[in-house]
Amino acid sequence: MKVLVTGASGNVGRYVVKELLKMGENVVVAGTDIKKLKTMFGDKVDAVEFDFTNRQTFMEALHEVDRVFLMRPPHLGKPQDLYPFIDIMKSSNIKLVSFLSLMGVEHNTIPPHHKIEKYIENIGIPYAHIRPGFFMQNVSGIHAKEIKEQDKILVPAGKSKASFIDAKDIGLSIAVLLHEPERYKNTAHTITGPQALDYYQVADILSTVLGRKITYDKPGYLKYRQYYINNRGLDKKYVNVTVALYFMTRMGTAKEVTDGFYRLTGRQPRTFKDFAKENKEVFLK
Ligand SMILES: NC(=O)c1ccc[n+]([C@@H]2O[C@H](COP(=O)([O-])OP(=O)(O)OC[C@H]3O[C@@H](n4cnc5c(N)ncnc54)[C@H](OP(=O)(O)O)[C@@H]3O)[C@@H](O)[C@H]2O)c1
Repeated sequence: MKVLVTGASGNVGRYVVKELLKMGENVVVAGTDIKKLKTMFGDKVDAVEFDFTNRQTFMEALHEVDRVFLMRPPHLGKPQDLYPFIDIMKSSNIKLVSFLSLMGVEHNTIPPHHKIEKYIENIGIPYAHIRPGFFMQNVSGIHAKEIKEQDKILVPAGKSKASFIDAKDIGLSIAVLLHEPERYKNTAHTITGPQALDYYQVADILSTVLGRKITYDKPGYLKYRQYYINNRGLDKKYVNVTVALYFMTRMGTAKEVTDGFYRLTGRQPRTFKDFAKENKEVFLK
């Protein structure tokens, strides 16, 4: 049987695929852009066209599949967007679904991940939720443009701290869960990086690694929202979800450091400094 990886081209999905292959699993990669998947993964995996908003793509994706990595594409802001596929998984005898959730959602009903976790649990599919902290890839991905062009980090996180984790480490953790479905049935895992950092510390680390001054001047929600929607042209729904997440972060929900990654993998999670060194070229002018 095979493991279906949704969002396979995404920050986390690509590493889930890589780690599952190392474990000898047969993998089906899924996404709306089949060409991109073929370019990324070649013939090491099966690739299927899959769209959460198109039920006609579900059955082929689940063919000979007994485990699923489930992620919510960031622009699908409503939990209900994922329910039709979860319903189909229920009727497909899935042995384990590992849902990419979010640290702290067990106590917070606002992010869509909370309702999605509950929906999976209530419908009765064996689950292993993974609840990571903020991805280091936010800094090297969405926020890299301002770092590269303006030497600034533009995030409305105030003085709050986040226990950033590398998506590579998240991918490995998910592969571990999916590789042993019986062992991890009906569990949830909060995984974080090794330390909680505020964005002043992130800017300092980047300054050291890049050899030029990077600053964080604590922008407010309005400035952030307007900039990302009007200047960067990002989807309003996506930006609104991120504003809610930064609101939570300011309440202290992102700063917990756990040993969840170590317990799953027996390894220490990557530090932000090592991550910045490895991804240095993204920030070069
Ligand atoms: N960033 C963080 O700090 C953080 C922290 C905790 C949790 N999370 C959660 O992690 C999730 C995002 O994961 P990620 O960063 O790995 O994703 P990502 O890099 O944003 O990639 C999104 C993926 O979704 C696929 N996709 C887009 N539209 C789709 C559709 N309609 N149907 C099926 N697939 C579709 C894309 O592939 P195609 O282009 O091929 O369709 C792509 O692989 C979000 O739910 C977010 O809330 C994020």
